[in-house]
Amino acid sequence: MRTAEKLLNDLKNLQKEVEDKLGITEDQKDLENIHIEFLGKKGKLTSILKALGSVSGEERGKIGKIANELKATLENSIDQRRGDLRKQYYEKLKDTEWFDATVLPPRFPAGFHFGETAGHIHPISAMQKKLEDIFTSMGFSIMDGPQIETDYHNFGALNFTEDHPAREMQDTFYTTSEHLLRTHTSAVQIRGMRKLTPPMRMIVPGRVFRYEEIDASHEHTFYQMEGMLIDRYVSVSNLLHLMHTLLGEIFQKQVEVRLRPGYFPFVEPGFELDMKCLICGGKGCPVCKQSGWSEVLPCGLVHPNVIKSGGLDPEKWQGAAFGLGLNRLVMMWYGIEDIRYFQNPDPEFLYQF
Ligand code: PHE
Repeated sequence: MRTAEKLLNDLKNLQKEVEDKLGITEDQKDLENIHIEFLGKKGKLTSILKALGSVSGEERGKIGKIANELKATLENSIDQRRGDLRKQYYEKLKDTEWFDATVLPPRFPAGFHFGETAGHIHPISAMQKKLEDIFTSMGFSIMDGPQIETDYHNFGALNFTEDHPAREMQDTFYTTSEHLLRTHTSAVQIRGMRKLTPPMRMIVPGRVFRYEEIDASHEHTFYQMEGMLIDRYVSVSNLLHLMHTLLGEIFQKQVEVRLRPGYFPFVEPGFELDMKCLICGGKGCPVCKQSGWSEVLPCGLVHPNVIKSGGLDPEKWQGAAFGLGLNRLVMMWYGIEDIRYFQNPDPEFLYQF
């Protein structure tokens, strides 16, 4: 037989051999071996092609083309078989390994102690729950809002001017030119005023984000609880009384506070309410930035422009708002000196609570 004819014959046989094997293999590993044996660098197809050198130019081109097409065809068949086998594998798995995600976990008897192996409630969640209980008992509703907000709700409607520095990229994670990761729970003020009919009181617990330089007291992701009340007449002394009562309830003792003027575009007047640092007792530590005081409660009377954005008549309605920093509160409560622990997946941190 002439070499050229023999080569064509070899290719045909090789095709048949591969197709036969593919038909009976049930195993993904075998499949990979077939691939190596026939199409691999040192495989049978390669060794057939080595003999091409002794064939005349015209025939060489023709056989080379046939061999390349064959290679593509076989690669294709192997791929297809690989897909089938994988599908079979998952089908089988579906019958043997599955779980019902809707089944409730087993109940533990009252007083059961979880020890160190079971789940814990995160201290931020525990603080949130505690505050929700305090506020709902004072007649506040709990509101929620999206974490990806519009620039309008986060800034525009809250009386931030177009060129306010807090809008800039260094403070805010923008997702589009009009959407951002909310930088504060105040973003829900407008939604609250539009949803709840005044007079109203609401709190908004939630996660907020800032493009921050991270250190012992700054995180890019943290938690706040917004508070807002709208009524016919609201005064600074109403606000202060509420703040004082609140901190007393949270810490279950009289805490020492001080009030400073604070600027936020959405309140007028605005305040920073500081609490004597419970970690160092006022001596100065990393959490209070050595000042002896911790900023826990920015607050103020709602700016008339914001009342207007909320769809209400500022001649008729007044309001007060405050923003509790949940991380700060938990740090004060437990004496945690570094805010980075909250995002740290180390369970040793959580076991302590
Ligand atoms: N949203 C402000 C902040 O995150 C806090 C704040 C809330 C101030 C409500 C005043 C009134 O910094």
